[in-house]
Amino acid sequence: MKTLIVYYSLEGNTEYAARKIADGIGADLLRLVPKKAYADKGLAKFFWGGKSAVMGEKPALEPYSADLSAYDRILFGFPVWASNFTPPIRTFVADHLPEIRDKQIAAFACQSGGGAEKALAKLRRAVGIDTFEAEAVFIDPKQKQSRKTDDDIDAFCRKLK
Ligand SMILES: Cc1cc2nc3c(=O)[nH]c(=O)nc-3n(C[C@H](O)[C@H](O)[C@H](O)COP(=O)(O)O)c2cc1C
Repeated sequence: MKTLIVYYSLEGNTEYAARKIADGIGADLLRLVPKKAYADKGLAKFFWGGKSAVMGEKPALEPYSADLSAYDRILFGFPVWASNFTPPIRTFVADHLPEIRDKQIAAFACQSGGGAEKALAKLRRAVGIDTFEAEAVFIDPKQKQSRKTDDDIDAFCRKLK
């Protein structure tokens, strides 16, 4: 099954997990980059990112090329922001909904505390599905590197094979 991992990462945790999963299952990677970068420091980081997530914004993305018709599965990866999935993923879903609806859809979320279940539920609603083929939650996999998280990522890869 050919998989495209579509992800956004502000501080590298989702990127870390996305790369490990891509290696583990032999998937391609598509990193979404908003035209206007989100602040990545201090209070501004939480204020602007949190507000954008709560408002359900769809920020414009830098151009990317991906032939979605070449993939059987889309695996979304995102950091949890204010118990929501991150806005660049919202943009991608809105731009490609008809193309992704007939594919297998899976997702993973990275968080530091809580809210991932709500965020995953909101993404399911945005895509219009009741369940993901597979889903996983990782705790700051890059910042808090641990054997357990790496094992969890490996277990997720086995579910996706
Ligand atoms: C704007 C903002 C809001 C966040 N909201 C949450 C949250 O609701 N729950 C949580 O557990 N972590 C929250 N976090 C922490 C990130 O989800 C977490 O550190 C994640 O691993 C970061 O992934 P990244 O390095 O790929 O950006 C938030 C971070 C930011 C910047």
